[in-house]
Amino acid sequence: MKILVIGSGGREHAIIRQLKKNPLAETIYALPGNPGMTEAICLKADPMDISQVVAMATAKRVDFCIVTPDDPLAIGLVDALELHNIPCFGPGQKAAMIESSKLLAKQLMQLYRIPTAAWQAFTNTEEAIEYLRQQPLPVVVKADGLAKGKGVVVAKTLPEAETAVRDMLDKRVFGDSGATVIIEECLEGQEVSVMCLVDRYTVVPLLSAMDHKRALDGDNGPNTGGMGAIAPCPFYTEEIADICMRDIFLPTAHAMMQERVPFSGCLFFGLMLTKDGPKVLEYNARFGDPETQAVLSLLSSDLLEALGAVRDGNLLPEHITFKPGYACCVVAASQGYPGEFEKGLPITIEEGIEAAVHMAGVAEEGGQLVTSGGRVLGVTATGDTLRAAIDKAYQAMDKVHFNNKYCRGDIGKQALRGLEG
Ligand code: AMP
Ligand code: GLY
Repeated sequence: MKILVIGSGGREHAIIRQLKKNPLAETIYALPGNPGMTEAICLKADPMDISQVVAMATAKRVDFCIVTPDDPLAIGLVDALELHNIPCFGPGQKAAMIESSKLLAKQLMQLYRIPTAAWQAFTNTEEAIEYLRQQPLPVVVKADGLAKGKGVVVAKTLPEAETAVRDMLDKRVFGDSGATVIIEECLEGQEVSVMCLVDRYTVVPLLSAMDHKRALDGDNGPNTGGMGAIAPCPFYTEEIADICMRDIFLPTAHAMMQERVPFSGCLFFGLMLTKDGPKVLEYNARFGDPETQAVLSLLSSDLLEALGAVRDGNLLPEHITFKPGYACCVVAASQGYPGEFEKGLPITIEEGIEAAVHMAGVAEEGGQLVTSGGRVLGVTATGDTLRAAIDKAYQAMDKVHFNNKYCRGDIGKQALRGLEG
């Protein structure tokens, strides 16, 4: 079987490693992939160029394609590949709008009474600011469309919120993605990520996870693509999981069926566990990064079979099982990220590392791996306890070297406090 994975990050590397475990996965292509993905053959192409991807997949006689990043999903890469008889894991363009339009997601939640933060949408700056002035602080301002993970501002002050609105609506800092803004209530509580495989009505949750989005220890500094993750999340009890299944996961899948946009793929629920119960912060129409690296490291079932079952419409809960224990993924970034950073610095990894290394922002120069992105790589370790997984991940990180390496020192610390008090 020839498999094509669209994307180039640590998440895709973790998925490829799992696929490789199935003997049927004879060749795995990554488009564009990265030179650290030694298990795959990298195809040089732009995942946003639909006709190029379709032509390549056809030429390589790809049997199954997995589309993970948000942008290709949002422009309808899955629809195009399926039209050319290339079976795909991932939602079509319409279903992917649950992520690519926050307005549509909010409208869906409102219509189907799925718990989320109170909100209003605006296209007019003055009306938005008038509304802002009546809201308690902090308040959240969001761009409707995709904005490379930067479209959400949690504003502590009114001027901060007003600036966010003006940047989005007037200055169009996110282009058309900011043509509509959502102003919403700021929720308080523990944040948890739950990814579910969804095949129309069937919802099979993976292990819960906790991302660490801020650049600096103690959840300080700017938002990033994610500096580390742990799984499972100790705050996400079985009781809460049951509530989420009943009030959020199944109602969302059913709402999409009802609206004639059945979801097939991985539906990511960004949740806030508030004192009034779990509420949806955001939906993503794909696997999360770095949650996937942590969650899949505990997978005990066959990922290829599960993803194939989603595509073919016969997903069963038995397709997804996990080992006991915990996982911790720590990301090594380039100093300066998410702002400016230096590239082209040689990466060395000592022998005997006791963790999985997933490559992300790397390039090759004269046979040597060098840094090329903000988030360079991640190390993921597992252990019987969360503390053991964290310790192993940081020991492994000590064996990774490149100039200007930066990682957070407190991945999983908050979760540990939850477990150990
Ligand atoms: P997103 O880009 O949609 O993943 O949102 C980024 C982050 O903003 C989330 O992970 C939350 O930490 C935060 N956030 C989004 N919406 C809210 C909200 N209504 N209340 C509090 N925090 C929020
Ligand atoms: N870690 C959240 C995301 O992938 O958007």
